[in-house]
Amino acid sequence: MAENFYWRKKWDRVLEWNFREPKVEWFKGAKLNITENCIDRHLEELGEKPAIIWEPNNPEERTRVVTYSRLNKRVCQFAQVLINNGVKKGDRVCIYMGMVPELAYAVLGCARIGAIHSVIFGGFSAQSIADRLYDAQAEYIVTCDGAYRGGKDIPLKSIIDDALIGNRLVKKVIVYTRTRTPVSMLKGRDVWWEDEMDYALSQIERNNIVTLPAVEMDADDPLFILYTSGSTGKPKGVVHTCGGYMVWTGYTFVNVFQYKPGEVHFCTADIGWITGHSYIVYGPLSMGATSVMFEGIPTWPDAGRFWDIVNKYKVNILYTAPTAIRSLMSYGLDPLRDKDLSSLKVLGTVGEPINEEAWHWYDREVGKGSSPIVDTWWQTETGGVLISNLAGVTPAKPSWATLPMPGVQPVLVDERGEEVTEPDEEGMLKGNLCIKAPWPGIIRTTYGDHERCRKNYFATYENYYFTGDGALKDAQGNFRITGRVDDVLNVSGHRIGTAEVENAINMHTNVVESAVVGFPHQIKGQGIYAFVITEKNTHEDDRAKNDILETVARIIGPIAKPDKIQFVSGLPKTRSGKIMRRILRKIAEGETGNLGDTSTLLDPGIVDEIKNKAL
Ligand code: WTA
Repeated sequence: MAENFYWRKKWDRVLEWNFREPKVEWFKGAKLNITENCIDRHLEELGEKPAIIWEPNNPEERTRVVTYSRLNKRVCQFAQVLINNGVKKGDRVCIYMGMVPELAYAVLGCARIGAIHSVIFGGFSAQSIADRLYDAQAEYIVTCDGAYRGGKDIPLKSIIDDALIGNRLVKKVIVYTRTRTPVSMLKGRDVWWEDEMDYALSQIERNNIVTLPAVEMDADDPLFILYTSGSTGKPKGVVHTCGGYMVWTGYTFVNVFQYKPGEVHFCTADIGWITGHSYIVYGPLSMGATSVMFEGIPTWPDAGRFWDIVNKYKVNILYTAPTAIRSLMSYGLDPLRDKDLSSLKVLGTVGEPINEEAWHWYDREVGKGSSPIVDTWWQTETGGVLISNLAGVTPAKPSWATLPMPGVQPVLVDERGEEVTEPDEEGMLKGNLCIKAPWPGIIRTTYGDHERCRKNYFATYENYYFTGDGALKDAQGNFRITGRVDDVLNVSGHRIGTAEVENAINMHTNVVESAVVGFPHQIKGQGIYAFVITEKNTHEDDRAKNDILETVARIIGPIAKPDKIQFVSGLPKTRSGKIMRRILRKIAEGETGNLGDTSTLLDPGIVDEIKNKAL
């Protein structure tokens, strides 16, 4: 696989590893720069082909088509901007932008000079950004004045300003103009993207160079950090490296979607999440594809937006999330009427289990029964797809991710870490999903704390990478992912740790304690249900609920706001003080009958009280 990429120097060894430490080294001794694979090597043949087609939030606004040669120019220019502002190889650059092409330039500009980018999704609050900036010890930020999303303007720069109160580390903030929202610009710290780009261009022109030389990287030098939630404490900075991540995203992009040269690929994710990193930027570009980047949301100005985009750009591959499909289903078939979707060849889903109803709707109404659907299972930590059917090559099975990618070795284990070998009555193996051996895109460490990486992923079951997911395996070897088995929720395909939401709720002045669980949600897949004990008797007080929501939005971001808040006078706890989440989960799911054994509870009476007032 690795032979399909451009290396300045090839590897001495393909793989060295142990999961004990863990230590995983792919392509040791190899030298490369990922941007030479995503840009330079395509210039001769594909220079005038679109690398990125950008669809603005407002369909009335002008589309932007970025050819490979234009992408080269802009990325080199921005890389020069970074250099001019003092950024060096290994420095951390936090990127907090809307979905504009400049976000791709910023990401690739960092990669060009070996700086480590850490993109933060626009739905996170100032506090979340501050925590991430501190954890990554970031000294540079790239942001926008604001971002458009549907009918909303998000004041990104002002959120960054809040995140920077008390921060002594950040030296420069580069601000791209998108919304013309008034912003404060601090002398010496804040600079305009446009001015910096103009100056960089004049330097480049003066020196008569077309391409800024890429910095040579070791295969296992870090490429980026991306923060993601786990079952405990604060988000972890997942670290991916240059060589392995490049090979894995390129390889999976071509094989899963069966990409053929010249095709147009539309991944609807945001680059703030791993799916956008791997299948808007790095995977498609390393393979010379045309990647559609969409600034807006699927339901604005109407629920036909995806179909208009498919129609307008003759999209061949559409890759989206089950939550988007369910949401669009709820608008009926009108938004699909008169939309020419005949260019579509392959459909994909990612981020959460897809229910059969949504799968069939996607197949029938979008794929017209003739586009294979790939159900791709993977994680931030895996860099790219690990389990999926290959479009048109291996069969799909609705709501099943099906077979591992060639080279991936999944295994199901029981609570003690023993491999499950006994099928149940239906002939299925059922267990916790682990992977036996490394693939090139595997997480290498959690930034600044390797022990945390070991504990989180490699210590639960000896010698295995543990995914945190539960799964079924049928007699043919197909996998069906059933959802998280740890305290992590998947809300609209966004990973949110229950502990994080609880911490945020508990910050509210009136709150004594809280417990957060998931519940089945028609559109989001999972919703957030919070059981909250307050100091004063504020039961049923809507204002108190709104204040709690506001607190969560401040501490984490609007994406983590609970859907339901139930005030309770106590929580079901064992004698040792542990909250029995199993019981709360059942109540949140609407179970009114048997809640299982409650005899070990300190105060079994509390269960009835909570159940009777369940929302
Ligand atoms: C879930 C997103 C079922 C799973 C790429 C995983 C899925 C978590 C699927 C990772 C799928 C992702 N079927 N569940 N096809 N894809 N998941 O890190 O629980 O945002 O552990 O990465 O999403 O979420 P993350």
